[in-house]
Amino acid sequence: MELCVRASSLLLGLLLQLLSSVDVVSAAQKFGINYGQIANNLPDPTQVAGLLQSLNVNKVKLYDADPKVLMAFANTGVEFIIAIGNENLQSMAGNPGAARQWVTQHVQPFLPATRITCITVGNEVFSGNDTGMMASLLPAMKAIYAAVGELGLGGQVTVSSAHSVNVLATSFPPSSGAFREDLAQYIQPLLDFHGQTNSPFLINAYPFFAYKASPGSVSLPYVLFEPNPGVRDPNTNLSYDNMLYAQIDAVYAAMKAMGHTDIGVRISETGWPSKGDEDEAGATVENAAAYNGNLMQRIAMNQGTPLKPNVPIDVFVFALFNEDMKPGPTSERNYGLFYPNGSPVYAINTGAGGVSGRTGPFDPYSAQMFSSASRLAETENILAAAAFASLLYSHDVWDGGSCPTRRIIPLSFLHTYHAAEKESPTTERMIGGGD
Ligand SMILES: *[C@@H]1O[C@H](CO)[C@@H](O)[C@H](O)[C@H]1NC(C)=O
Ligand SMILES: *[C@@H]1O[C@H](CO)[C@@H](O)[C@H](O)[C@H]1NC(C)=O
Repeated sequence: MELCVRASSLLLGLLLQLLSSVDVVSAAQKFGINYGQIANNLPDPTQVAGLLQSLNVNKVKLYDADPKVLMAFANTGVEFIIAIGNENLQSMAGNPGAARQWVTQHVQPFLPATRITCITVGNEVFSGNDTGMMASLLPAMKAIYAAVGELGLGGQVTVSSAHSVNVLATSFPPSSGAFREDLAQYIQPLLDFHGQTNSPFLINAYPFFAYKASPGSVSLPYVLFEPNPGVRDPNTNLSYDNMLYAQIDAVYAAMKAMGHTDIGVRISETGWPSKGDEDEAGATVENAAAYNGNLMQRIAMNQGTPLKPNVPIDVFVFALFNEDMKPGPTSERNYGLFYPNGSPVYAINTGAGGVSGRTGPFDPYSAQMFSSASRLAETENILAAAAFASLLYSHDVWDGGSCPTRRIIPLSFLHTYHAAEKESPTTERMIGGGD
């Protein structure tokens, strides 16, 4: 035990030295990371605090309110999103005492030394089929919000919830984004709450799932932020060169359709696994490094989406560590930027086409609590996203001779929209009858 701790200290120390000698991107807008802990071999939170500080990560999202983590990050300046699990929603809804008790126990003692800025109530509640839980979500959020206010923390702590992008029925083109009709009864008042309390709408978005679901029809460069022709939204003439931005703008459009242009969208989770099962196309070290590296570059550039160019994307990468105890396919245990011993799973190229173009170990992002079931539930929306991505090649047949990518990616691209249509009868429906 002690030996293990020492060994990992050593590795972390080495990593820090290495990083300080590397020209790490100096991000004006830093990124966040999900710090998931479904593992039996993670380092002590005090070591993690040092690791993240060295990596330019200034925002961390937890899936609980682990006091050991919150204490370890006291006086570090790192901003925290903490969470109330789905299993607690029903007991908090309509129970001001329980909500107050939770905030008193899990938030108040750590402020102000630890910067807790947001409490997420529930994770992907609308991805399941528990309507009782769905109905409890907003009352639970309101109870927590009231407790935060009563305890005098209203100015510093916002209340939100995280949703899968599968809350959208339509995501192509982005300007046509719309929430699922069966969820409107929950989402309309939820948006009203966000508007009234000035809190962000959080989404978990994984272009990886689009690729995995339909590797033959989704453009890999499009999902990896690699150079590609882009897709034009015919309603706005805005051009999209990556799926994540299209998903974000689809959420803005869906909120607008419900009367809200007053709510910000943040990405509470996104990431790419470095390893997967045989049937998990795209789960490779190369692709994970490309996705996360390219994303970090864009964060460092303070880039916004085509619809909101002046609103820098706000992202929590999933995840900090590989988590060995997560159930589900192999990919679930391989989203981490780091192994539990503190060594990087891969080097991230943050300089593609940029100033230095150098490759080096890089920033971590972070972690989850997502059951594999909830990820699988994304598949439906994924198909819509896949259909959108396939439009990339609706006009130009892929020219294998002029590959625009900078690295060799041993995976297939899809060629034409029509080909995609044939392979997946659902594609056309989800595209919504586009030409
Ligand atoms: C809800 O989901 C669970 C788990 O996927 C499933 O076993 C159950 O049959 C579903 N219930 C309904 C009503 O769809
Ligand atoms: C988009 O561009 C086309 C062709 O340039 C133009 O005719 C159309 O009015 C534009 N639409 C919008 C919404 O700007």
